[in-house]
Amino acid sequence: MTTGKPGVLRTVQAGGRSVELRYMEPGDATALLAFARSLQPHDLLFLATDITEVEGVNTWVDDILYGQVAVILAVAYGAVVGFSSVVRSPTRWMRHIGELRVVVGEAFRGVGLGRHLTAEAFRIAADMGVTRMVAQMTMDQLAAIRTFRRLGFTPMALLPGHVVDEDGRSYDLMLMHQEVASFAETLSHLE
Ligand SMILES: CC(C)(COP(=O)(O)OP(=O)(O)OC[C@H]1O[C@@H](n2cnc3c(N)ncnc32)[C@H](O)[C@@H]1OP(=O)(O)O)[C@@H](O)C(=O)NCCC(=O)NCCS
Repeated sequence: MTTGKPGVLRTVQAGGRSVELRYMEPGDATALLAFARSLQPHDLLFLATDITEVEGVNTWVDDILYGQVAVILAVAYGAVVGFSSVVRSPTRWMRHIGELRVVVGEAFRGVGLGRHLTAEAFRIAADMGVTRMVAQMTMDQLAAIRTFRRLGFTPMALLPGHVVDEDGRSYDLMLMHQEVASFAETLSHLE
């Protein structure tokens, strides 16, 4: 459902709760920080920036202002409960590629919010001129792999030992992809 409220892209129902999906603005930095700090560190491992630190969130805000990244927040009762982001590749020969990231807070998982955030990210990607979306996750993130498969992504590459966490543990990295043009058809099969 589209709302008339300024800045709100959509209001969706997730698990019986009303959640607003809207573009992140600089004033959301503190709420995003609180959300990031509520997550398990492993949920954020695949992000390029550490958004559990003020500096990391400020980097995001700068990237949004410079148009290098689009971030959609899911907001319930004034708190951030999830986000999706699209980062367009700065490399000239990969400028058709957008990197998708989706994170949903544990209390809101499994009720369709990840799907809604992904759908908004695809709309924005199309507007940005992105034709292929890629998503990365570690091989042990089985829920994420299942979710992305369900949403039409297919595995593209497996990079052994490519990710190392804060404690020096290494993980295999899975790359998945989906053409932007096929996402609408994927969604129509789900609904
Ligand atoms: C991956 C993640 C975003 C999914 O969000 P979510 O809101 O729980 O997902 P949804 O409820 O929208 O589910 C989307 C689809 O995936 C399926 N799914 C979700 N979680 C699942 C699980 N644990 N096992 C199997 N399937 C699952 C759902 O059934 C749904 O399909 P359906 O609509 O046909 O029922 C969430 O688990 C998360 O934030 N994980 C940590 C961060 C991460 O790993 N992100 C991925 C890297 S970009």
